[in-house]
Amino acid sequence: MKKFFKSAVALSLALVMVFAFAGCGNTESETETKLIMATNAEFTPFEFVAANGKGICGEFDGIDIAIANEIAKDLGQTLEVSNMDFNSIIPAVEAGKADIGIAGMTVTADRLENVDFSEPYWVAVQTIIVKGDNTDIINVETLKGKKVGVVTGYTGDLALSEVEGIELARYQKGIDAVQDLKNSKIDAAIIDSPTAASFIAKNPELKGVTDDSFFETEEYAVAIKKGNSELLGKINATIKRLKESGEISKIAEEVDNRLAQ
Ligand code: ARG
Repeated sequence: MKKFFKSAVALSLALVMVFAFAGCGNTESETETKLIMATNAEFTPFEFVAANGKGICGEFDGIDIAIANEIAKDLGQTLEVSNMDFNSIIPAVEAGKADIGIAGMTVTADRLENVDFSEPYWVAVQTIIVKGDNTDIINVETLKGKKVGVVTGYTGDLALSEVEGIELARYQKGIDAVQDLKNSKIDAAIIDSPTAASFIAKNPELKGVTDDSFFETEEYAVAIKKGNSELLGKINATIKRLKESGEISKIAEEVDNRLAQ
């Protein structure tokens, strides 16, 4: 009897271990449920596939992955990353295929019609990326008559689509616009400031141009299905904790350090 009891304990311990390694950290027992995060891992430093394949959740690394991990931890759940096209994230959250959407996603009036957003966790602005020796592009006005790369559906695309006289080249990934800029196929590319900074860090022949009188600041927040105020409250509590403790800046610094390696 005693022997049976011992092996039962050993067996359940082994089971806990197996489940503990199935998710991304935080896992304490096999009864935990999954928190599915919809994202588009083409947006360094918020979400990207780690170059060495060793992210903080499977192959995925970035500020948003770390934040989502904290949300999952506070909910007693295990994070699972579902990587998809950026424009599929809101539909996935609406359809309940993902519990949360975190993707350096800016809160906009249009998006608020389809999903709810948490409290913001980051503030950014659009940056115009040009070649280092470019002197004629100094603001949005000077983009008129030029060919400018945007990523389809990103806020940079939405903002420049309002301006007449700019020829837009649409891409699925920021990196592809940057590649075409380097090859002089386009004159400039527009993307959020933190992502622009990391492209420029990797490509010193490029530089960033800002236009504060045209681009408004943007707030990133977590998207969830409309009307789930209980989940929203819990996510807001995690964000508040991470902001007030300075944890978000620490997370960002650690991601930067990993990227610099
Ligand atoms: N902030 C911009 C937006 O909300 C770009 C976000 C892109 N994020 C990504 N994970 N690809 O439209």
